[in-house]
Amino acid sequence: MSGVLMSSQADCPSGWVLNDNKCWFFSDLQPALSWTAAESMCQQNNGHLASFATVEERDWVVDKNLKRKDLTRWWIGLNDIQVEETFVWSDGTPYDPAVSNWKPLEPNNAYLENCVEIWIDNDFPPVNDKQWNDRNCDGLNGYICKRDTGTQSCSMTIFRHYAWLDWRNSFRLLQQTSVRDVIGVV
Ligand code: BGC
Ligand code: CA
Repeated sequence: MSGVLMSSQADCPSGWVLNDNKCWFFSDLQPALSWTAAESMCQQNNGHLASFATVEERDWVVDKNLKRKDLTRWWIGLNDIQVEETFVWSDGTPYDPAVSNWKPLEPNNAYLENCVEIWIDNDFPPVNDKQWNDRNCDGLNGYICKRDTGTQSCSMTIFRHYAWLDWRNSFRLLQQTSVRDVIGVV
């Protein structure tokens, strides 16, 4: 008889940041990418371009992360590719206008603009410098991915049981356990 017990700890892949029980990745690598290429990079890493379910998530991204980087234009998952003026998040999170943070006069669809970026334009005073703009999806930007946590440190306990009758015909049971660590985020 044998059995396996798995225990794991929620965690993010290296290079990703844990916040609000999600993993976040900020790519300011060159070359910058179109919205579609950025979304597909996020999907290859089990995520999507970032959605914001709460104002806290939205502001954490800008205040704690983007401000420290040189790049000023970042794709997020919001888009109205399917139906003009109907905005949806690429990961399926329902779009809540109360969580939106458009720049004044945006979205304006100025150049056939169906994808949304966070635009840090370093205005002074910086009132509108971390707000959203709809931009043509072919524009080249940095991007932010979001994904569920994975299991990083994961250990496996293997049980083996041996049972037999000894020379006096009494029942003997032996339990052997071994613990193995499985490394890597799934
Ligand atoms: C406009 C934005 C537009 C952007 C395109 C800006 O000058 O205000 O609405 O999306 O140009 O890069
Ligand atoms: Ca615009």
